[in-house]
Amino acid sequence: MPLESRRPARGHEPVLADEVVRLLAPRAGETVVDCTFGAGGHARRLAPALGEGGRYIAIDRDPEARTWFADLADDVVCETRFIHANFADALPRLLDQGLRADVVLMDLGLSSMQVDRAERGFSYSRQAPLDMRMDPARGASAADLVATASEKDLAGLMRTYGEERYARPIARAIVRRRAIEPITTTGDLVEIVRSAVPTPALFAGGHPAKRVFQALRIVVNDELGSLERGLASAFALLAPGGRLGVISFHSLEDRMVKRFMRDRAQGCICPPDMPVCGCGHTAEGALLASKAQRPRQAELDRNPRARSALLRGIRRLGEDDR
Ligand SMILES: C[S@@+](CC[C@H](N)C(=O)[O-])C[C@H]1O[C@@H](n2cnc3c(N)ncnc32)[C@H](O)[C@@H]1O
Repeated sequence: MPLESRRPARGHEPVLADEVVRLLAPRAGETVVDCTFGAGGHARRLAPALGEGGRYIAIDRDPEARTWFADLADDVVCETRFIHANFADALPRLLDQGLRADVVLMDLGLSSMQVDRAERGFSYSRQAPLDMRMDPARGASAADLVATASEKDLAGLMRTYGEERYARPIARAIVRRRAIEPITTTGDLVEIVRSAVPTPALFAGGHPAKRVFQALRIVVNDELGSLERGLASAFALLAPGGRLGVISFHSLEDRMVKRFMRDRAQGCICPPDMPVCGCGHTAEGALLASKAQRPRQAELDRNPRARSALLRGIRRLGEDDR
């Protein structure tokens, strides 16, 4: 059976997969760096195009991704390598080693398996330790965060990263509860959120703890900091003509990606009334599409988790483009 027509690996359906293949157009002999390998759903669409002379370098900070990577490595003919790390740390190391990539992909956020595995603590609908670390061996967990952050910081992070309307009462309820007993499980946190929001809000806008869980997860994993550092290294890693694609799921992520790509694609930045260019600024890249790509209805019908996905891409300019 051709690789592409197989069922998605371990239940994770790759988001915007057709659009990723079209935009990043991997070719025989090229090197792809997949910064967020997950279950290898996108890898199974990209790696077969590379052929024997190609290379597929997979990065994931979740150690479980290594087992999904092993499945892929058995199935493709290109050279493969797995790096267990935050891409923000791995990409500069690859750059130092002299690697240049033709394609770099970031598919941000969580995989379905991470959400569905109760014990990882990402899901508000399953009782589990309040963990939420993508790499369970590194850094502070969500339980550590709710045990130590000030009420003001808790409210601020829920407002900023979760757009949580009731951030202040929820933060107050967290601080009150932790003075009595530690908050250690997803169930504890859900119960605190339920107790803090007005009754009508319990039945509107999805699960009442959805936004709080999202905010904690973003902070626990320093997702925006990793993206900021990772974008710069990813672009630097591109060979001339190389393509970078980023799928984001949160407006703060997309804003960062959009600004980053727009700045790289921007040529002269002189005021329009300047008769000749005095800034000397030249574009380093060209946008692969003028607008972000969104999932089509057929994909949304199949995979509701794709709802907020946006794909943006940029090509690094080479000497021939100038
Ligand atoms: C949406 S899933 C990727 C799914 C994958 N594209 C597929 O089709 O199977 C995101 C994955 O990226 C990983 N991840 C998220 N942020 C990361 C980071 N900063 N560094 C490395 N891995 C990261 C997560 O652990 C998760 O496995």
